[in-house]
Amino acid sequence: MPFINERLSANQTSIDKARYEKPTTDNTVARQSRFHFKPEDVMNALRTNIIGQDDVLSSVEEMLYLVKADFGIKHRPLAVNLFLGPTGVGKTETVKIIAKSILGSTDNFCRIDMNTLAQEHYAASLTGAPPGYVGSKEGHSLFDSDAIKGSFSKPGIVLFDELEKASTEVIRALLNVLDTGHLVLSSGTHEIDFSNCLIFMTSNIGVKELNAHRAAQNKGIKKWLGGNTIDEKSHLKQALQKKFDPEFLNRIDRILSYDYLSDEFLDKILDVELEKLNLRLKAKNATLELDETARQQLYTYYDEEYGARNLAQHIRVKLEPLVAREILKDDQSTQFIIKYVDDKFSISPDINT
Ligand SMILES: Nc1ncnc2c1ncn2[C@@H]1O[C@H](COP(=O)(O)OP(=O)(O)O)[C@@H](O)[C@H]1O
Ligand SMILES: [Mg+2]
Repeated sequence: MPFINERLSANQTSIDKARYEKPTTDNTVARQSRFHFKPEDVMNALRTNIIGQDDVLSSVEEMLYLVKADFGIKHRPLAVNLFLGPTGVGKTETVKIIAKSILGSTDNFCRIDMNTLAQEHYAASLTGAPPGYVGSKEGHSLFDSDAIKGSFSKPGIVLFDELEKASTEVIRALLNVLDTGHLVLSSGTHEIDFSNCLIFMTSNIGVKELNAHRAAQNKGIKKWLGGNTIDEKSHLKQALQKKFDPEFLNRIDRILSYDYLSDEFLDKILDVELEKLNLRLKAKNATLELDETARQQLYTYYDEEYGARNLAQHIRVKLEPLVAREILKDDQSTQFIIKYVDDKFSISPDINT
């Protein structure tokens, strides 16, 4: 009964709205948040899926409670976060999981690739190309204003990916957004409201040097970046400060550095990836396990420089085709196991279960 459900939920929202707007002395009512998401649920999803980034997740947890409590400054975004760190360590995935938990789908948030925005005609729409200039309206197509605006009971979510690619002009426009909570596209006809929005930005600024440092260290070269030990997190922050004005950085609530994913987390990350695959296989009434030989082989593909992305890709390229063959066969097997023998992966029905 989708229609009835919609009506019920609309009613609930207007009840909530009335409560929210009516001044009251009753604490239980006054303190009820207009936001329907539960920080606990979001954190459960994050802690299950994002491995090895406990410090970052603790800060994200604080943010979620702050947003839910809803006493932030009006006309400013609900929260402004910048995620720093190497590739494939969970920066984008964190935003996707938050979007999924709060909005019900990873498709409901607005993702702006700063690389795309760096193209002149898009940037022009932000930074004041004269009306009529080709592309002066195109920024509108880049920004999904509904996803950014959110709704009464749900925050909007926007992700500015690869911040380091943005031009000075675009950063200036962004600074304005962080300050005032809205953006007027230079066509003058479109205004985008960020005041009910969680803003996330990601950057791998400074990571190149860290990678070089780590590579040198692995080869035993110790005189790099001032010796054997560098504080990676403060290196990233320094690189950030070199690139962006304090004016801009001061408007960011949280600057969080993701760690490289070290070997100790591989087991868990593999479990997470397998879990995701099994969720998809459920629709085909099949489940997959890996034996120890297969796990060990997958670990050999892992490269810290590329993070978990690499592991996920190998599962897709090397294991999924084997599963595909198996489930297209006519026999009724539902449980499969993959091993690595004689230099190759092989799949068979799991007879032990
Ligand atoms: N910390 C992590 N824990 C579990 N899986 C991860 C983690 N980091 C990355 N992954 C996996 O790698 C993929 C790419 O990660 P992503 O968040 O997009 O990387 P980036 O940090 O470059 O934004 C994810 O879809 C996920 O499958
Ligand atoms: Mg990313």
